[in-house]
Amino acid sequence: MSKGIQKIFSKVPNTYELINHILTFGLDILWRKRAAKLAVTENGSHWIDICTGTGEMAAYLRRLAQKKIMIIAADFSLPMIRKGTQKQEAGQIAFVLADVRALPFNDRTFDLVTISFATRNININRDALIQCLSEFHRILKPAGRFVNLETSQPSSLVMRRFFHKYVELFVKPIGQFLSGSRAGYAYLSHTIPRFYTADEFADIIYQAGFEEVTFNHMLQGIAAIHKAVK
Ligand SMILES: C[S@@+](CC[C@H](N)C(=O)[O-])C[C@H]1O[C@@H](n2cnc3c(N)ncnc32)[C@H](O)[C@@H]1O
Repeated sequence: MSKGIQKIFSKVPNTYELINHILTFGLDILWRKRAAKLAVTENGSHWIDICTGTGEMAAYLRRLAQKKIMIIAADFSLPMIRKGTQKQEAGQIAFVLADVRALPFNDRTFDLVTISFATRNININRDALIQCLSEFHRILKPAGRFVNLETSQPSSLVMRRFFHKYVELFVKPIGQFLSGSRAGYAYLSHTIPRFYTADEFADIIYQAGFEEVTFNHMLQGIAAIHKAVK
């Protein structure tokens, strides 16, 4: 499964950001910036953005962080990371090739772990997701913070149906047309309707060992930002 996901992301780096901006009418930019702002802490020395892709969230974190804070951006797709290294902020970000299931970092290394629009990709099943989140918990220092931005499920059923239809009728075909990747956008449109509600996902974060889990809905619950503490 993860080899398949790796293959999907090796084919989309050049169009990935633009297509996200088109399909969300630019909202993905605002949501990442919002998550980065919510994630920022005054203290600390090491932050990591996991499944960083082309490094957008890492770049926003870099802009907000004090100079002394080291920012790491990790992903298992070399083509996505390569694209990220072309960013203006890339000189002050350490890009690392790593699989979330076995992160090459010691216990209690980071003050902050972020992940954006990638939790669906590591949700092979509920247990596998809890294991990945436990890995994030392991590499955080005590009192370290976890921030997760992901698509979610609107609580209004009408809105939920509208969202899922939009994904089926527009996201899938437009994504496939613009990127040339049939598999990539079929996969995206398959995973979005199946992901958890914000409450269900909060429970999963608790099960991975985190405390003080809170969340903010974006656009009626189409996306959500979850925060948690180790
Ligand atoms: C949808 S993209 C999200 C990229 C970026 N975080 C963003 O906000 O746009 C998902 C990313 O997760 C990465 N990914 C998926 N499974 C992974 C795994 N097991 N280990 C590391 N990276 C993974 C993919 O390579 C891809 O770059």
